[in-house]
Amino acid sequence: MIFIIFYKNISTYFCNVKFNNYNYMMKKIKIVAGILALVVLVACQGDTKDQTIENIQDEVVETSVISQSVMDKGRTVYMQCLACHQANGEGIVGTFPPLANSDYMLADIDRTIKTIINGTKDPIMVNGTEYPGNTMTKFTHLSDEDIVAVATYVLNSWGNSGGVVTTEMVAANR
Ligand code: HEC
Repeated sequence: MIFIIFYKNISTYFCNVKFNNYNYMMKKIKIVAGILALVVLVACQGDTKDQTIENIQDEVVETSVISQSVMDKGRTVYMQCLACHQANGEGIVGTFPPLANSDYMLADIDRTIKTIINGTKDPIMVNGTEYPGNTMTKFTHLSDEDIVAVATYVLNSWGNSGGVVTTEMVAANR
């Protein structure tokens, strides 16, 4: 009998100790598991964002439709623009507006095509600087293909990613 009571006391003592430790351990495990789950979640989200087939296809389409030969042709046609807009597309602030990172140009492809074909005399605001309607040379004599090339070139050089220009778009803006 005494032995049994003794045994019970001892075992409750050990169980309590065990139980306390267990609670403490579980707390720690939960915290560590929580942090791990968070890290895995964040890592996986990053992965799925980069890896979805849709995104990969988007990238392929974007890089393949702007053809290198059109860009090369555009660089040649741009020889007729660089006296004003400069080889680096920075222009001369206040006189010849920049094409590199031009908020005005990148906002509207059709307007850009029209500007190249007809020139422009209207006062315009480019990257916060006003250009008071200096006459830009007309380029009506350029073929649709040349306009496509030079528009593609200026829209996609110097860090610009302004998209695709087609002969249909040029014809519609003549
Ligand atoms: C004689 C100088 C001159 C030449 C050459 C010239 N431009 Fe311009 N360009 C200007 C000026 C000046 C303006 C601003 C006109 C205004 O204030 O309305 C302008 C405006 C523009 C704009 C809109 C504003 C901007 O910076 O986003 C684009 C796009 C553009 N030019 C592209 C071209 C392209 C492409 C060529 C060559 C095919 C060309 N330009 C040739 C002087 C020139």
